[in-house]
Amino acid sequence: MNQPHAAVVAEEFAALYGREPEGVWQAPGRINLIGEHTDYNDGFVLPVALPHAARVAVARRDDGVVRVHSSQGGGSVVEFTVESLAPGSVAGWAAYPAGALWVLREGGHAVPGIDLHLDSDVPFGAGLSSSAALQCAVLLACDELLGLGIDRPSLARLAQRAENDYVGAPVGVMDQTASLCCAEGAALFLDTRDMSQRQVPLDLAAAGLVLLVVDTRVEHGHADGAYRQRREGCERSADLLGVKALRDVEAASGPDLDALLDRLPEEELRRLTRHVVTENARVLEAVRLLDEGGLRALGPVLTAGHASQRDDFAISCAQSDTAVDTALVAGALGARQTGGGFGGCVIVLTEPALVPGITAAIAAAYAAQESWNAPAFFTATPAPGARRMR
Ligand code: GLA
Repeated sequence: MNQPHAAVVAEEFAALYGREPEGVWQAPGRINLIGEHTDYNDGFVLPVALPHAARVAVARRDDGVVRVHSSQGGGSVVEFTVESLAPGSVAGWAAYPAGALWVLREGGHAVPGIDLHLDSDVPFGAGLSSSAALQCAVLLACDELLGLGIDRPSLARLAQRAENDYVGAPVGVMDQTASLCCAEGAALFLDTRDMSQRQVPLDLAAAGLVLLVVDTRVEHGHADGAYRQRREGCERSADLLGVKALRDVEAASGPDLDALLDRLPEEELRRLTRHVVTENARVLEAVRLLDEGGLRALGPVLTAGHASQRDDFAISCAQSDTAVDTALVAGALGARQTGGGFGGCVIVLTEPALVPGITAAIAAAYAAQESWNAPAFFTATPAPGARRMR
């Protein structure tokens, strides 16, 4: 994809604004191998960047005016000034680039005017971090073009703040860090408490495996109540347990965990807590397996993660459960819903030879339900993080 894509985005910029862009940057979407809803609990995550990316062609202006256009945005150019930016001041898709500029301005960085043209092939609303990709592409472009010298973990925190405070979605920092910090051929082991991180090699081909991504075509959003409600429940549980965040609850299973959960007054809080605690343990287990080259053994860890999302955190849906169950029956090593939940995508770890059978079985199971959209499929290859393309 990359070079030709960057050239096309540059050409479109020139046609739109009547001058050449100063550069083109891109930032990828992601899947998460394991570690769901752990990031706002100061926990561990293990995302992988996708080849799908948001691209932005950029040229500075000296009049404080911002013009943004997106190939996916319905044709019109959205115009505002840097000075006028305030949370919610720009709506729709343009809120993402606007939020990125707002957060830079709020951080004390001098942002002149700017012309932006965006293009993205990260599917929207599929749980693959299309919005983080847009914001990270714009933030990295501004950082490098304006010579701001912000390191990538700090850029990820800025992108999270843009999403939290400008767009109004109470997300954690996983997606932004994945987009900015992932490396080709690796999963990113991130400790969201202190942003410490390590690239964990993920050589699927060497293990004779692939990661199949199933888009359930059930759209989700994070600005809505369900994500926020889970987050608030986790924070309440941490308070009641007297810890800073649920990450600090270390008993991962057995009587110790049960005794601890008994201290929580509501079943819902016990379930939320159990998910976060066991999920953090699953991330550590997954990293250990990858370090030891035990990729096949990752399968059951993924599947256990799905059960926890379904039964404890209550963020699955019929389409995700069907994709997971059908993949397992068709011989997959493991499967789970990835991302914020309530639909989006399911990842399936399997041998390549089984992919046609798995996709056919899932497509048939969906077709049998009158109201379900047909699922979409692709295989994920761990791609590089955000970078300048030209
Ligand atoms: C969304 C959020 C992330 C994270 C995941 C769940 O993708 O943007 O911060 O909370 O959900 O793991």
